[in-house]
This record gives sequence, C-alpha cells and structure tokens, in this order.
Amino acid sequence: MKITVVGAGAVGATCADNIARRELAEEVVLLDIKEGLSEGKALDMLQTAALLEFDTKITGSTNDYAKTAGSDVVVITSGIPRKPGMTREELIGINAGIVKGVITNSLQHSPNAVFIIVSNPMDTMTYLALKSSGLPKERIIGMGGILDSARFKCYLSLALNCSPNDIHGTVVGGHGDTTMIPLTRLATVNGVPVSQFLPADQLSKVAADTMVGGATLTKLIGTSAWYAPGAAVALLVESIVRNQRHVYPCSVYLEGEYGQSDICLGVPVEIGRTGWTRIVDYKLTAEEQELFRKSGDAVRNMNDVLATLSL
Ligand code: LAC
Repeated sequence: MKITVVGAGAVGATCADNIARRELAEEVVLLDIKEGLSEGKALDMLQTAALLEFDTKITGSTNDYAKTAGSDVVVITSGIPRKPGMTREELIGINAGIVKGVITNSLQHSPNAVFIIVSNPMDTMTYLALKSSGLPKERIIGMGGILDSARFKCYLSLALNCSPNDIHGTVVGGHGDTTMIPLTRLATVNGVPVSQFLPADQLSKVAADTMVGGATLTKLIGTSAWYAPGAAVALLVESIVRNQRHVYPCSVYLEGEYGQSDICLGVPVEIGRTGWTRIVDYKLTAEEQELFRKSGDAVRNMNDVLATLSL
C-alpha cells in the first residue's frame, strides 16, 4: 500500500505520522508546495521509526507529484486553516482553487486512488473534488463526521466520567459549527442510552460543545486543531487499506439518501478497500431530519459559491 498526504501543515503531518506509526502502508508520501517542508517533516518522522518500532517508509516531496505515483489512498489537507473567529466557510475562496489543482495533479499519477478530503469548508471541498474529477462517487470521502463524533464522545465521557471507548456516538450533517448534528438520542454507554445517565440540560451542553469543538480549539491555539483530525484520518485510512468495512460518518455524495440529492453531507457509511460501499439509514426522527434538511440548505448555499469563483 502507498498513501499520499497532500499538505505538510500540522494536520497533514499528523495524518502521515499516525498512518506511519500504525503501519497502514509500506510507503507514505508527504507533499507540500513549500520548499523543503515535507522533506524535513518526513525525515523527522522517519527518524522516529527506530524509536517507535515501525517500518513504514516516509518520503517528502516539494510539489513533485511523480513521487506520489501509484498511491492507493490520497489524503488532501491542503489550503489555509482557520484563524480564531473565522468559520470554516470563510476559507472557500482560497481553498477551492487549491483543492481542485491538487486533485487534478494527484489523479494524473494515481488514477485508481481513493480520495479523502480534509480541507475546509470540507463538505463543499468534497463536492468540488467529486464534480471536478468526475470520479465514481464511492472514491471521494470527506473526513469530518469521524472527528466530530470523536469530539462528541470526548465531551460525553467527560460529563459521564467514563472511558470514551465505552461510548458510541455519531455526528451527522455538515462539518460546520452550525451544520453538524450530534445524534444524542442514539448515543450510548456500552449500549445503554446516555439519557439514562445525564439530564437533558447536560446532554444539550455536550451537543453544543461538540458543535463548536473545532472553534474552541482554534480560539485556544490560534489556528485549527491537528491531533484529533490526524487521528481521525488514520482511522478512515485503516478501514480502507484493511478493508474493515467500519461504518463511520463521512461526507459523501447523496442521491436521495436522507432526503438529499446533489450534495456531499455527513452520513454513516461503510468504508472498505474501494472507498465507501453503502450508506446506512439510521432512521432519523422528524426533528433530526429537519435539522439535516437545514444543514443541507446551508451546505448547498456554500456549494453555490463555487460557481462564482474562477476555478
Ligand atoms: C477541525 C478542522 C480540521 O474541525 O475542520 O478541527
């Protein structure tokens, strides 16, 4: 297996690091436009191999896509991250052109790759990647829901004072502060609904904290987060390369599922070697479905901005 991570910023480098440590591939290529950055970070990571006992080869590339040739998975993290006070949506003008260029260049050298989109605004970048590449929809996966669900589980575990690993919880909808939908009704501690342990006001606070999970970090750190985003990508990559068929919430192209069409939005999907294989219907309540519809409207408005950009 060969995996390319485009963008050697904090998120991209952490993705590469997680993928290498978990030995999800024989080779990881980290590519960036900034001279020397990916080579330096790749070499630094490679020097951890004898300490962390992994055998994955990591190479860096300054914008030379030939080095990425034959990748099975390409992770796109390129673009600018948000600054405190910014929404993910404000990044569209700059990131759309970057993502379009990256997918075109990557495809030339890795025509069979599965693409994971991380750049923000993620749902719109996933839609752009699909439309501009003409690839089968199953090979384009937006990473947001796994990360948002991990944050949901984190806040639930803090409120419950229990292990995050005993919690099941899913966040669907858009990967935006106001568009994501933590499905509190379906969250459980080892199968027991969380509502048996936490009162409604605490559950509402957990959901609210989850929705601004990324913004909270951006405010604290001064730029967007990377540890959890990097780990979330690695989990997704693992399900692909090991054909695990895990169901994770990811942004994928909908054609009537969950009442939406011609849009990429976060829904539970099975992830395997060929990309996403099927969308799982969690049978939302009327209230949840209404939130999903509103989320779709907001993401669609953002998608409409793509037409106004000269890409
Ligand atoms: C976040 C960015 C990666 O949520 O969207 O941290």
